[in-house]
Amino acid sequence: MYKLVVKGGIPLSGSVNIAGSKNAALPILFASILADGPLKLNNSPHLSDVSTTLRLLMDMGAEFILESDSSLFVDASNLTKLVADYNLVKTMRASILTLGPMLAKYGEAKVSLPGGCAIGTRPVNLHLKALEDLGAQIEVKGGYIYASTKKLIGTDIHFEQVTVTATENILMAATLAEGTTTIHNAAQEPEIIDLANCLTKMGAKITGAGTSIINIEGVSNLSGVTHTVCPDRIEAGTYLIAAAITGGQVTLKKTKHQSMRAIIEKLIESGADIKYDENTITLNMKGKRPSPVNIRTSAYPNFPTDMQAQFCALNSIADGQATITETIFENRFMHIPELSRMGANLSLEGNTVISKGVKSLTGANLMATDLRASASLVLAGLAAHGTTTIERVYHLDRGYETIEEKLKLLGADIERIQD
Ligand code: EPZ
Repeated sequence: MYKLVVKGGIPLSGSVNIAGSKNAALPILFASILADGPLKLNNSPHLSDVSTTLRLLMDMGAEFILESDSSLFVDASNLTKLVADYNLVKTMRASILTLGPMLAKYGEAKVSLPGGCAIGTRPVNLHLKALEDLGAQIEVKGGYIYASTKKLIGTDIHFEQVTVTATENILMAATLAEGTTTIHNAAQEPEIIDLANCLTKMGAKITGAGTSIINIEGVSNLSGVTHTVCPDRIEAGTYLIAAAITGGQVTLKKTKHQSMRAIIEKLIESGADIKYDENTITLNMKGKRPSPVNIRTSAYPNFPTDMQAQFCALNSIADGQATITETIFENRFMHIPELSRMGANLSLEGNTVISKGVKSLTGANLMATDLRASASLVLAGLAAHGTTTIERVYHLDRGYETIEEKLKLLGADIERIQD
């Protein structure tokens, strides 16, 4: 196991490339199951979740070639095993995204129920109900989902609540269904638009991706294509906060500000000066202490839950009080006790954390628990006086490409060492 050791108090400066989006690359890799040929993915991020996805696809009979630094070929056109095994699914909940494509292409699937995780119980009932609406027979037993269908039949799908991966599962399944499917109350995340763009290149007929109503007209087959993954807006937001929390100035390259409006608005409110053009965003904090910002997470295009923990870290050194309310997950506050050990003044009332900013945090030994909570601990360590160690760094590696290398490029004093 590895841990990160951060010596805080250095204002970050310089520029860093933003990687391809984890939450776009994963569904797009699973979409390769639908294709009659190989999918070539450019700008795919080097993340353990991507490696897990490739291992899972290979276990099912797919082949993949790592083409160069960040592009890969995956051919999942002739699967030999229509099973997503527990031993892989337990490490990555997004494996549920094998269900829709396998049903659509092969008419059967056996997928391990993804367990809960640190941030919540993470049920998949909405995925299963929507696939039954499309005509699948589904049974859950022994920790596995058994699904089968002669042919999926297009229909109206109404999600009682917005759900990103269930929208993606149905979007993919409906591409090969008979007739037209309309998804109502669809998630509108940019990663869904990226998935829809890739599916359309493969031959799917989709309109409305990125809005709450998506129409899919089923086709008989989809072909392999080349696709470039969109930039990761959460990685980008995390590095912007790294600049803000250390009072520095950082430029992000290979990024798109258009998908980050809610994040940028809150950073400006915290006192940051932000400039952007087509592919870069520059944040300059000019050495200032951040102002506190009130946040309420909700579905895109509103403030993303995946940036909640990072803003908790920023608010913990702000000059005043603020509240952050988490409305998506029931337990996404695992970073609070760890930040408090650094001297943060944070209290939890229901699903709202109240922060009373302190002038500075003090380095401490911390434990990472989930992906974005771990990121908030790194951010706090960058700002803290003294040294912070963060154990169980594997949580971070799921969603951040060589985080210590990128932070070193920005002047941080950070090392990855063996436990
Ligand atoms: C996706 O998770 C993302 N993961 C998450 O990012 C992100 O936090 C989340 O969307 C919300 O934006 C990927 O895209 C791989 P949901 P997902 O279904 O799809 C409830 C990260 O840090 N729900 O939109 O699993 C659920 O419990 C990760 O990169 C049901 O009740 O989230 C939650 O309260 C973390 N039944 C709410 O809906 C279901 O069948 C929204 O969850 C499905 C979801």
